[in-house]
Amino acid sequence: MTSKRRLFVTTALPYANGPFHIGHIMEYIQADTWVRFQRMQGHEVHFVGADDAHGAPIMIAAEKAGKSPQQFVADIAAGRPQYLDGFHIRFDNWHSTDGAENHQLAQDIYRALRKKGLIFTREIEQFYDPVKGMFLPDRYIKGHCPKCGAADQYGDACEVCGAVYSPTELKNPYSVLSGATPELRKSEHYFFQLSSERCADFLRDWTQACNERGVPHLQPEMLNKVREWFATDENGHGGLADWDISRDAPYFGIEIPDAPGKYFYVWLDAPIGYLASLKNHFDKGQAATHWHVPSRTAQTYDQFVADPAVEQIHFIGKDIVYFHTLFWPAMLHFSGRKTPSLVNVHGFVTVGGEKMSKSRGTGISPLKYLDIGLNPEWLRYYLAAKLNARVEDVDFTPEDFVSRVNSDLIGKYVNIASRAAKFISQYFDGQLRYSGASAELTERAQALADDVASALESREYARAVREIMAHADRINGAFDAAQPWLLAKDESRRSELQDACSRALAGFWTLSVLLAPVLPALTSRVARELFGLDRDFAWSDAAVLPGRVAPYQHLMQRIDPKQLDRLFESDAVPAAPPQPAAAPAPESQEATISIDDFAKVDLRIARILHAETVEGSTKLLRLTLDVGETDDNGQPRTRNVFSGIRSAYRPEDLIGRFTVMVANLAPRKMKFGLSEGMVLAASAADEKAQPGLYLLEPHSGAQPGMRVR
Ligand code: MSP
Ligand code: ZN
Repeated sequence: MTSKRRLFVTTALPYANGPFHIGHIMEYIQADTWVRFQRMQGHEVHFVGADDAHGAPIMIAAEKAGKSPQQFVADIAAGRPQYLDGFHIRFDNWHSTDGAENHQLAQDIYRALRKKGLIFTREIEQFYDPVKGMFLPDRYIKGHCPKCGAADQYGDACEVCGAVYSPTELKNPYSVLSGATPELRKSEHYFFQLSSERCADFLRDWTQACNERGVPHLQPEMLNKVREWFATDENGHGGLADWDISRDAPYFGIEIPDAPGKYFYVWLDAPIGYLASLKNHFDKGQAATHWHVPSRTAQTYDQFVADPAVEQIHFIGKDIVYFHTLFWPAMLHFSGRKTPSLVNVHGFVTVGGEKMSKSRGTGISPLKYLDIGLNPEWLRYYLAAKLNARVEDVDFTPEDFVSRVNSDLIGKYVNIASRAAKFISQYFDGQLRYSGASAELTERAQALADDVASALESREYARAVREIMAHADRINGAFDAAQPWLLAKDESRRSELQDACSRALAGFWTLSVLLAPVLPALTSRVARELFGLDRDFAWSDAAVLPGRVAPYQHLMQRIDPKQLDRLFESDAVPAAPPQPAAAPAPESQEATISIDDFAKVDLRIARILHAETVEGSTKLLRLTLDVGETDDNGQPRTRNVFSGIRSAYRPEDLIGRFTVMVANLAPRKMKFGLSEGMVLAASAADEKAQPGLYLLEPHSGAQPGMRVR
């Protein structure tokens, strides 16, 4: 056994602006599996997470919800445990980047960087929303693309032609927050000098170097990416740019020391939140007891992070690599701290080959998964069977999920126990025997355990699962070849029966040990209920032969594909089937509907952020509406609606006004683009005889997103 490792493991800190989605859960399952594997080997692990609380989107979302940002993130935090517990994800600590530790650590690190001469200030010109009284992040400005003219494009890039530009280049820009035309204003910003020789030299070394165990800090494909970021052209242009680390008030964040009205940009304090959560964990006095060695003398955060043997390991997704492989190591190094040992990057979860998106109604809701009674360990197993150490997307398809779980997990693994234990209980009072085969069995188990260990260590989970299932195939093959059902009928062949069943169960024991990081709850029951252990499995149990089994109790259900259908059923309201009218309705009045029918229509207050005419149409106006929504990244999401009200309104008269929209109308593809709902307007029954269109407008005080009912 190798000597005891000291591990500090983190997952990316999720923005505290919404509940977890399946992508978060995948990342946590990947890390939790690795952590459990390390713990089973007796290593010391501190596995921490936190909510990423700061930044403009959260501040704005809190304001929309009518809460203080602190209350807003506290409410999000309160929802975390049901997901984590539900999927057996066992962080040692969960904290917040708004915690006192993070304020202190972020300011300490900043002061250290300043002392090193790596901080400078520069005046920059930026868009300012005069109505909201704040500088606007690029994503909060929209307008026409300067290249192709497409309407409704964000301030950083055009989704139509792919052009990248700065928000000041947009034509007819407007603020997504108020609809106001933004003004250019000057402000002093603080920068981290990433372009300096010192930083570049350090990062070039660090990104290519190996850690204390001889493992590269970065996966090969990430190293390639980083090299691109370093690259300069023949004139020496390009390469790493200095990093703007400040934001002006109002901002939900951490104050920059000696800079009134200035806050750290959220991405400066977010990774420091890893250390803050670790410190919070140690300060609570939990750190010494969490890995089953209660006698260990209490240690402090300072002692732990000062130990050069500590390995700091981050699990993150492919979209946040720049922050974790450049900014973060540089911040740590130049503030005199230990740098990460490994940055493990995973791909994204896709569903049926498509990028998931809450707003488009695809994706899998983790809470719904649990609510409809799907077993969390099915998902853990399925993801393990698909994950590897490369930066590849992981596709979830229902058919594949059902087949992996039913054919492999249940059909190959769980079934061994149910088939073999039955005979041992019935004829041998639970007693197992190995008639001279012990050495061979333990040797084979040890070899398999070593292979699986090296696969798990290097995050090649799919390979580990393949090897485990191949072994299950061998066990089942040998068991079937012995024809135990025939042996059981012949009293003279009882010892053969006992041998065959014992070997199968010894195999099941080994498989259970190796699957324990993936299936913690199931294998805990196997250890305790089936094999009578008074603890969970340790990795060293893999090559031990069990002596007894208890009567088999049902371990795990198969998936009923119908259950899975429910997971993919859209929660959106289905269109109501046409109702046959019972009696002829009075003229110009529709048939009566129930209150439930009415409730199916999701009516919302909308703010008209922007309105414009549509080329090629004399009837339509294109409206950009704020209905209080955010997208998967917590950015404000607007709706594009084409409305036939051009005859009644000039676009400029509509901007900034409120109206009512049908928010759950199925999106409609039109010649001019996608229409994502409709706005409500009144008109006479005979529009020809009595023209006039009147948009509904709520009394003042109504806010975007409020429900109309
Ligand atoms: N708050 C930042 C991270 C700060 S770390 C100091 C952030 N938050 S996030 O909530 O947007 O993302 C959290 C993690 O989830 C990231 O690692 C991200 O890559 C991951 N995922 C987001 N969508 C994902 C999928 N569809 N699939 C897998 N992981 C995904 O970024
Ligand atoms: Zn464009």
